[in-house]
Order: sequence, then structure tokens, then C-alpha cells
Amino acid sequence: MLNAMLGLFSQDLAVDLGTSNTRVYLRGTGVVCDEPTVVSVQTDRDGRRRVTAIGSEALPMLGRTPEDIHAIQPIRAGRILDFEVAEAFLLHLVRRAHGRNGWMRPRMVVAVPHHASDMEARAVRDSCESAGAREVHLVPRPIAAAVGASLPVQEPDGTLIVDVGGGSTEISLLALSGVVLSRVVPGGGEGMDAAIIQWLQRERRLLVGRPSAERLKIALGTASHPDPSATSVVKGRCLERGIPRSETVSAADIASALAPHVEAIAVGIRNAISEAPPELGSDVVDQGVVLTGGGSLLRDLDLGLRDLTGLPVIRAEDPEQAVAHGVGGILEDTLLQHAVALAS
Ligand SMILES: Nc1ncnc2c1ncn2[C@@H]1O[C@H](COP(=O)(O)OP(=O)(O)OP(=O)(O)O)[C@@H](O)[C@H]1O
Ligand SMILES: [Mg+2]
Repeated sequence: MLNAMLGLFSQDLAVDLGTSNTRVYLRGTGVVCDEPTVVSVQTDRDGRRRVTAIGSEALPMLGRTPEDIHAIQPIRAGRILDFEVAEAFLLHLVRRAHGRNGWMRPRMVVAVPHHASDMEARAVRDSCESAGAREVHLVPRPIAAAVGASLPVQEPDGTLIVDVGGGSTEISLLALSGVVLSRVVPGGGEGMDAAIIQWLQRERRLLVGRPSAERLKIALGTASHPDPSATSVVKGRCLERGIPRSETVSAADIASALAPHVEAIAVGIRNAISEAPPELGSDVVDQGVVLTGGGSLLRDLDLGLRDLTGLPVIRAEDPEQAVAHGVGGILEDTLLQHAVALAS
């Protein structure tokens, strides 16, 4: 009875638990939180941990914290790495989403990678329950991405969706609301940042932090023809002399650092097509590949992948929000919920 009453008033949530960013969609409203998935934690002498900042307040602490404080990213490619911290993070977002109605226990629809093991899915479910969910429904992340990109997931035609996230790139062939096959290319956008860090160490003997590498990627990065006049100055530590130093890098430099990542995604797409049932593979050849995820905002990634695969490639509108809009759409639409549940 009490549960039924709470059900009546509760404000259901859909969650895209990302490596870099987590988005929360409130039923009837839309995306109400979009926060970096970062928590800073202080550990006292007895090993007890205390949360000191969450989300955008904790983000600047990545790589800059004193010894007893750690900025933690509790999720990687849909998997929970630190249960306690993930739970604190989710609890904070649920409270934020509900504002003054914080006493209500929501139903939650959460996107998980297609490859999540039973144990990994269990960990997501447990974290949501500990954060106050009274009921948790897990849906495959590629289906959510496709719903968010307004693709006809319930049709028998094959759809190839490539979600370039922070932690990985998930390449999935979908049909009839189900995942026919899925391949993961490790790295994602954060792997691209790491490639820029390695490139600067190797080619310029300069050590830079992750935020600087990400800034270079966004300012100069491209998957196709780099602008010959685009350059940027980056500060770091000279690996030879140990002192601060600046370097000018060009768009061509960053493109060469990122090229192996773009090629790995293209190989993943080609492999997915070659392993697909022939009918579905030919649907993709006709209709093309759709890119979602923040990493797909890399300049000309659509053009670069088209050149490397020979397939039509398009970037979804608002690709960073696709999974959140998709889980939200599934939360709002009971019929779609049944179709996704039956197919998974
Ligand atoms: N304009 C841009 N150019 C290139 N990369 C970008 C751009 N904007 C954002 N990104 C990258 O997108 C990535 C984050 O994407 P997104 O928010 O989709 O990841 P996520 O959902 O948290 O991760 P995952 O799905 O792997 O768990 C970051 O690596 C970020 O640097
Ligand atoms: Mg994501």
C-alpha cells in the first residue's frame, strides 16, 4: 500500500552512468543533471573515507589533489570500479534531481553496456538501490543510444550505432529492439587524451596533464584533414630538465597522435559488418553508421570514418546526450520498455 502510494507520487529517473559524465533524466521533465563522474574523497589516518566534493566541483581536483585527498572516477565504460564512491555519487544526483521531493523513492531505468557481466549488472543495480531506487530496470546502452538518436530500433532493419564515450567505443548492430552483435574498442575520448599525452612525451619530451591534453584534442583534434594554420600553445614539464616549458603544437601533430584511435574504430566497424548476418550488413551499407557519445564530437570523425570504411557515416544530433535521451525515452514509453525487455 505504502509502496503503491509512493509509486503514485514518485519521480522516476533514467540514468546514463558514464565514465566521464553522468546524466539524469527526470520523467516528464528531461535531463535535469549532467555532471562529470568524479568524486573527491579524503582518507583519514584510520583509513576512513569522506566525500569532499562531487561532480563539477571535484573535476578540477583530478591530478591536483594533496596526498590524503583523491579525485576518483568510480565508473569505467559502464562498470563500477568503486562501489562506495559510486553510491555516494548516485545518491547526490538523485537528491539533486528530486529537489525538495527528496523523500520519494524512484523507479530507475539505467543503461548498461551490452557486454556487462551478471556481476557488473548486479553492481549497478545494487548502487541504484542503495541510492534510494525502489525498482531498477537495466537496458542495453546501445539501444538507449539508438532511441536517443531517433533511430527506428523496433524495425527489423539493421542499424549500426557507434557510441564513442569517454572510456570506450561501443560498436553495436541492432535490429528488432535487440543487440545482434557488439564490439568494444578500448579507450574512447579519455584514451584519445592519453594518446596526446604519450605523443607529447615521445615527440617533444614534454609531460602534460589530462586536462591540457583534452583541451588540445577539442581545440585542434581532427580525424580528417588538419587545418595547416591551426596551432596551440601547451604548458607542461620538460622531461629532460624537470622545469616548466611551453610548446607550440599543430593540428597535424594532434591528428597524428589520434590517428591510431580513429583507425581502431574503423577496424571495429569493418569487423562488425563482416560478422553481421548478410541481410543486416547490407542494411548498414545502404543506411549508414550513426555516431553518438561525446567522443564523436571530434572534428570530422564522420568524414574520417567514411574514408576508412567506405560506408556512409553520420553524427547524431546532440550526440553527448543520446544515451540519456534514449533511457529517458524508454522510461516514458511503456511499450518501448516491453520491447527492449523482451529483446534483451
Ligand atoms: N568537441 C569535442 N571533441 C572531441 N572530444 C570531445 C568533444 N567534446 C567532448 N569530447 C569528449 O567526449 C568524452 C566524453 O563523452 P561522453 O560524455 O559521451 O562519455 P561517457 O558517457 O561519460 O563515457 P562512457 O560512455 O565511455 O562511459 C570525453 O573524453 C570528452 O573529452
Ligand atoms: Mg556514454
